[in-house]
Amino acid sequence: MASPADATAPNPFLSLFLIITLLFPSKSMDLCIEKEREVLLSVRAGVPDADKQLPPWSGHDCCSWEGVGCNNITGHVVTLDLSVCPVIGPRAPAKLHSSLFDLKHLHELDLSCNNFYGAPLPELIGSLTMLKYLHLYSTAFSGKIPHQLGNLSNLLSLDLSHNYISEEIPESIGNLKNLQFLYMSNNKIIGAIPGALGSLCNLSRITLSHNRIAGELVDFFELSRCKSRLTYIDLCSNQLNGSVPTSLGKLSALEYLTLTKLNGLHLENIIFKIFNEDNIILIAKNLTLHFTSLALVTSIDLSNNNLSGPIPRELTNLRGLHFLNLSSNHFSGNIPENIGFMNQLESLDLSKNQLSGRIPSNISALNFLSVLNLSYNNLVGEVPTGSQLRTFTNWSYIGNPKLCGEPLQNKCLGDNSTIDNGVTKEEDRHEDDEYERIWYLIGFALGFVFGFWGFMATVMIKKSTRIKYILLIDRICVCFA
Ligand SMILES: *[C@@H]1O[C@H](CO)[C@@H](O)[C@H](O)[C@H]1NC(C)=O
Ligand SMILES: *[C@@H]1O[C@H](CO)[C@@H](O)[C@H](O)[C@H]1NC(C)=O
Ligand SMILES: *[C@@H]1O[C@H](CO)[C@@H](O)[C@H](O)[C@H]1NC(C)=O
Ligand SMILES: *[C@@H]1O[C@H](CO)[C@@H](O)[C@H](O)[C@H]1NC(C)=O
Ligand SMILES: *[C@@H]1O[C@H](CO)[C@@H](O)[C@H](O)[C@H]1NC(C)=O
Ligand SMILES: *[C@@H]1O[C@H](CO)[C@@H](O)[C@H](O)[C@H]1NC(C)=O
Ligand SMILES: *[C@@H]1O[C@H](CO)[C@@H](O)[C@H](O)[C@H]1NC(C)=O
Ligand SMILES: *[C@@H]1O[C@H](CO)[C@@H](O)[C@H](O)[C@H]1NC(C)=O
Ligand SMILES: *[C@@H]1O[C@H](CO)[C@@H](O)[C@H](O)[C@H]1NC(C)=O
Ligand SMILES: *[C@@H]1O[C@H](CO)[C@@H](O)[C@H](O)[C@H]1NC(C)=O
Ligand SMILES: *[C@@H]1O[C@H](CO)[C@@H](O)[C@H](O)[C@H]1NC(C)=O
Repeated sequence: MASPADATAPNPFLSLFLIITLLFPSKSMDLCIEKEREVLLSVRAGVPDADKQLPPWSGHDCCSWEGVGCNNITGHVVTLDLSVCPVIGPRAPAKLHSSLFDLKHLHELDLSCNNFYGAPLPELIGSLTMLKYLHLYSTAFSGKIPHQLGNLSNLLSLDLSHNYISEEIPESIGNLKNLQFLYMSNNKIIGAIPGALGSLCNLSRITLSHNRIAGELVDFFELSRCKSRLTYIDLCSNQLNGSVPTSLGKLSALEYLTLTKLNGLHLENIIFKIFNEDNIILIAKNLTLHFTSLALVTSIDLSNNNLSGPIPRELTNLRGLHFLNLSSNHFSGNIPENIGFMNQLESLDLSKNQLSGRIPSNISALNFLSVLNLSYNNLVGEVPTGSQLRTFTNWSYIGNPKLCGEPLQNKCLGDNSTIDNGVTKEEDRHEDDEYERIWYLIGFALGFVFGFWGFMATVMIKKSTRIKYILLIDRICVCFA
């Protein structure tokens, strides 16, 4: 009867032991509390999508069920993870069984991606006072955030993003003293940013983007009554207005900030102080300035804004720049003559502007350039040649009907005389247009431009060697129009 497999099979007692251990892991053996087991089953019955992601819960020992965790001494359920992200197929309507709120010992509750079908966030949530993690991402809850949420003073992480929350953030949020992560983006939240947020000294990441939060931006930054630990702020797509406040400088830990698509942010009165481990920058409209390291600036992305006027030639002093994207703006005038100075550039995108004149031959000094896009401008004359430039195809230049020469099909006719190789006219900069004024200031005051771009870079780049943070200020100049 002995088969070859038996010969190497382990001792049958050991096998039995292994099977028992697998079926009844010692740490949860006999721990399950019958009443909590019933609660778990009714909660799960309310979230049909869980069956797509979790194996069926069977057996008595609820503490061994997937998605459930118990305190290994008391046996109380402390974690419940019924999240079903990413959602596969259409989502079935779910219903939150109120017995959930009997699980008073819960530390972690994650119901993300279940579809509660526009139900209001239950006020009883405030009874789960032990909660540290409450994750209700994309759960289709609607209406207001119950003020009882403020009862969850142990909360470290709150994720209510991608729901239909449509009212104000309650002041009681200020009771969540331990909160480190607050995610509320993609709702329909209205009202101002509550002042109480300022007392959340441990807050490290906050996202409120894609809401209808109004009021002045300054209020947000003035909030903090403690040494801020904020590293990540995303406020984009709201109805915040006013100027970017000085108090931004108090956020000494800041690594990432997006203010894209705010409603009417002034570029005026910018006075920033940014302190990080190796840099101090002060930028003021009155051109006071300190900065330490230009080498910090390695990446600038101001694409898709409404920026106009000439590209400030001082920009080319940012020798450390690897990546520059000014695409889809209203920049006019020439490409700066000394663009070759930025000899670290790997990617240069100036497409979709109104740049005119010749492409400066100096561009061929950019030996590391691997992405070049000058498309859709009004550039004229011959495409410069140069070792690195040979690698680009006509796709780098399309939409400039007056450009000629390789790699374009347009042959140069040899009449160079009519081409305006114009230097930007000084009087252009004196136009009364506010846009021009800003760029005039930038053009005039070297310091300002260093600081301005430097600020961008500091926010974007914490370490000079890493391209990590991107600041996109969309339509920053809207108020000047
Ligand atoms: C019980 O849980 C604690 C922390 O949750 C852990 O450190 C400990 O090792 C666990 N004990 C057993 C026997 O699993
Ligand atoms: C708030 O928490 C306390 C216990 O800390 C509890 O007695 C009370 O019922 C909770 N309030 C709400 C509204 O859940
Ligand atoms: C904040 O975090 C620190 C250390 O991470 C901790 O000691 C403190 O209790 C937390 N809570 C508050 C309210 O500061
Ligand atoms: C900002 O918007 C609010 C209304 O939301 C308005 O009362 C206030 O005057 C605006 N402030 C500025 C500086 O535009
Ligand atoms: C210029 O900026 C400095 C520092 O921000 C400030 O103290 C000073 O009052 C400002 N001067 C004017 C004229 O605005
Ligand atoms: C520059 O930005 C535009 C718009 O944001 C984007 O489409 C384009 O790909 C970017 N260019 C590069 C080289 O990344
Ligand atoms: C580009 O311009 C700079 C300054 O005008 C000059 O030092 C450099 O030699 C030029 N390079 C080329 C390839 O023309
Ligand atoms: C780019 O050049 C290729 C030939 O090299 C040509 O077939 C193509 O039509 C050109 N595209 C444009 C937009 O000019
Ligand atoms: C340059 O940008 C234009 C417009 O966005 C795009 O059509 C073209 O393909 C880009 N060229 C290259 C080389 O990426
Ligand atoms: C046109 O300019 C190019 C360089 O800019 C020069 O090499 C060429 O000789 C000029 N052609 C005429 C006809 O002047
Ligand atoms: C962009 O600026 C122009 C003026 O240069 C203004 O007319 C237009 O409304 C602005 N567009 C947006 C989206 O702000």
